[in-house]
Amino acid sequence: MSVEEFKRQVGAYAAELVHSGDVVGLGSGSTARFATQSIAARLRAGTLRDIVGIPTSEDTASLARAEGIPLTTLEEHGLIDITIDGADEVDPAWNVIKGLGGCLLREKIVAHATRREVMVVDASKLVPALGTKAPVPVEVIRFGWQGTRQSLERTGARPVLRMQGAAPFVTDEGNWILDCFYGPIADPVGLAARIIAIPGVVEHGLFLGMVQDVVVAGAEGVRVLERNR
Ligand code: A5P
Repeated sequence: MSVEEFKRQVGAYAAELVHSGDVVGLGSGSTARFATQSIAARLRAGTLRDIVGIPTSEDTASLARAEGIPLTTLEEHGLIDITIDGADEVDPAWNVIKGLGGCLLREKIVAHATRREVMVVDASKLVPALGTKAPVPVEVIRFGWQGTRQSLERTGARPVLRMQGAAPFVTDEGNWILDCFYGPIADPVGLAARIIAIPGVVEHGLFLGMVQDVVVAGAEGVRVLERNR
């Protein structure tokens, strides 16, 4: 079975966790996309009613509108019942790296407002330590970004400005992203504190202690992970 099929399966599974009447955070990325489409399919089928969605990116907002999911805002609904989102890496304690799709800032704001944050991943995203395969995306303001990059280097990173074609990638909030390669991170909490203390850093892709459920699709089917603290 292809990775695409795993993503479809895990998205469909997680969409079943949404209840009628829920305020639902709609994640970004290729796996969360399947979850959003499955939620919309449940609305059309009538197995789900009266939900409102809060998208984590402009892309997801467009998808949700096209699929007929009613949208709301954090101003109108400050508490989200459930969010289904993807991840780039998940460690055994369910700390995750997010943001290779570039939406980490809104994703983290939505996750922070969420009671049940559900990660949907294929098995390739499970790692023994964060940073093993993926960089930590760090969203920075453009002003003085070279200095911000140097400060990130002093945290042990190899920061690379994310590009889109010939120009820097621009986030939904108009910022740039430095993808910070660390290798396996021994102390994610300590590192997160050092990164966020750097002037010019808006947010980083370390989501620590924010996840309530991890749903994984792999060769053996879809399974809900047991947390290893
Ligand atoms: C978006 O900014 C990201 O956090 C995605 O949720 C994450 O990169 C996972 O994306 P895929 O499901 O496409 O791998």
